[in-house]
Parts: sequence; structure tokens; C-alpha cells
Amino acid sequence: MSKLDPEKIPRHVAIIPDGNGRWAELRNLPRDEGHLKGVQAVREVVRAASELGVRLLTLYAFSQENWDRPRDEVRALMRLLKRYLRNDGDELHENGIRVAAIGRLERLDAGVRRELERLMRRTEANDQMQVTFALSYSGRTELVDAVRQIVREVESGCLDPEAIDEKCVASHLYLPELPDPDLLIRTGYEHRISNFLLWQLAYTELYLADVLWPDFGKQQLVDAFLAYQQRERRFGRTSEQLRREP
Ligand code: IPE
Ligand code: IPE
Ligand code: MG
Repeated sequence: MSKLDPEKIPRHVAIIPDGNGRWAELRNLPRDEGHLKGVQAVREVVRAASELGVRLLTLYAFSQENWDRPRDEVRALMRLLKRYLRNDGDELHENGIRVAAIGRLERLDAGVRRELERLMRRTEANDQMQVTFALSYSGRTELVDAVRQIVREVESGCLDPEAIDEKCVASHLYLPELPDPDLLIRTGYEHRISNFLLWQLAYTELYLADVLWPDFGKQQLVDAFLAYQQRERRFGRTSEQLRREP
């Protein structure tokens, strides 16, 4: 078995943790039980990522489209999220983890938002690893929000339309300082992006894990990193060029 190269750990890992509902249904359990197991997997993966030296971890916890799920499921997810933010705060803080969030957070229940804002404030100065939760998040909406802000700046005369370039667009995303992910992991057997980080994933390496999210843990994360370390990221160039000027 090949070993992980500690020099080539992906700096920013994004995850689409999918398959909680199916995990529960396979066991004739209510879907909420799958979400509960999913939270445990999040806990384990946050610990493992930090131990392995990941600097940035972005987790798609709840999409804008997920608001259209049955009301009871949305309510259960919000309850779990609130409980996670409250119960795991101490451990995250003690491990030097900064908590951040992206998405239309104003749509979240007041209780969830309060816990989230409190934890973000509390962990703001931590610098071991940043965990960013995408909540009420849509990649297209993030771009719409960026366009609106850019138009406002043009209208008020602070921005010249000719000065709008990729850097300018990127600087209007929810967390402009967050670099693009190096690796995207999706569990749950689906091969799609589901409206996650549309702009930021332009050159991200994709890894589709054939496992439901509650069954994903440290070993599966290591497997994803091993696969990542075999990839050659060319960014449009040729292998030959990369050998000459890496
Ligand atoms: C992912 O699991 C969790 C969220 C979307 C919040 P799902 O709930 O989508 O599980 P499946 O895909 O139905 O199995
Ligand atoms: C993606 O999972 C969103 C999250 C994991 C939060 P979904 O289950 O919502 O995605 P689709 O509907 O299968 O594309
Ligand atoms: Mg799903």
C-alpha cells in the first residue's frame, strides 16, 4: 500500500457529504437517523483532516435547494445543526479550528444563526485549520450576489467596468480570502456538483467516493488523498512544461 506524502496534503479540501438518507433507508430507519450518523462522520472527518495537516476544509452542509425538502426533515436538519454547533464548539476551539460559513445565512432559523455567529466569533483568531460550512448555499446564488454587488459599485462610480476581471469577481464572493479547493470529495455515488462552489471548482481535482456519507471516515479520507497525490495538475499546460518549470 502506498503511503501519504506529508508534503502533498491538499491545502483546501471541499466535501459534498451525500447519502445520509439512503444510509438510513437501507436499515429501515427514518432518514433523520442517517443525518445523525452524518454528523458523527463530520466530527470524525474534521478531526482526521486536522491531524493530516489540511488547512482549509469546506463542507456542504445544507444547500439552498435543500429548503425544498419535507418540512419535518428541514426542521430535523436545523435542530441537528444547532446541536452540533453548540456541542462541538469546545472541541473545535481547543483544537485551534476557526469556524466560518458561506451561503444566504439570513435564511437560517434565528437559533441556528445565533449559535453559528457565536462560534464564528469565538474561534475567529484560531489558525490551525478553517472549517467553512456551506449553509443555505447555492453556487449560482453566490454568483448572483457577487454580480449585484459589482453593479452597485459600478453605479456608484467606485468601479470602472473595464476593471472587472477574474480577480474582481473572485473578490466579491462570500469569502474572498478563501482560495479555490485543491480537492473535492463527493460521497453517495452521485457524479455531480449539485450547485456547489461553481466558480471556485474550475481546476479542482474531483474524487468520487463510493460510500454513503455516514460510512466515510479517516481511512476514506486517506484514500482520497492518496488518489489526489497521484494526480498531475496541469492547469491547461503540458506535462513536459510542468517538468521543465514546475
Ligand atoms: C446529505 O444526505 C445530507 C444533506 C443533503 C443535508 P442526503 O439527505 O441527501 O441523503 P440521500 O442522498 O437522500 O441518501
Ligand atoms: C448535495 O446533496 C447537498 C448537500 C450534501 C448538502 P443533495 O442530496 O442535496 O444533492 P442532489 O439533490 O442529489 O443533487
Ligand atoms: Mg442526497
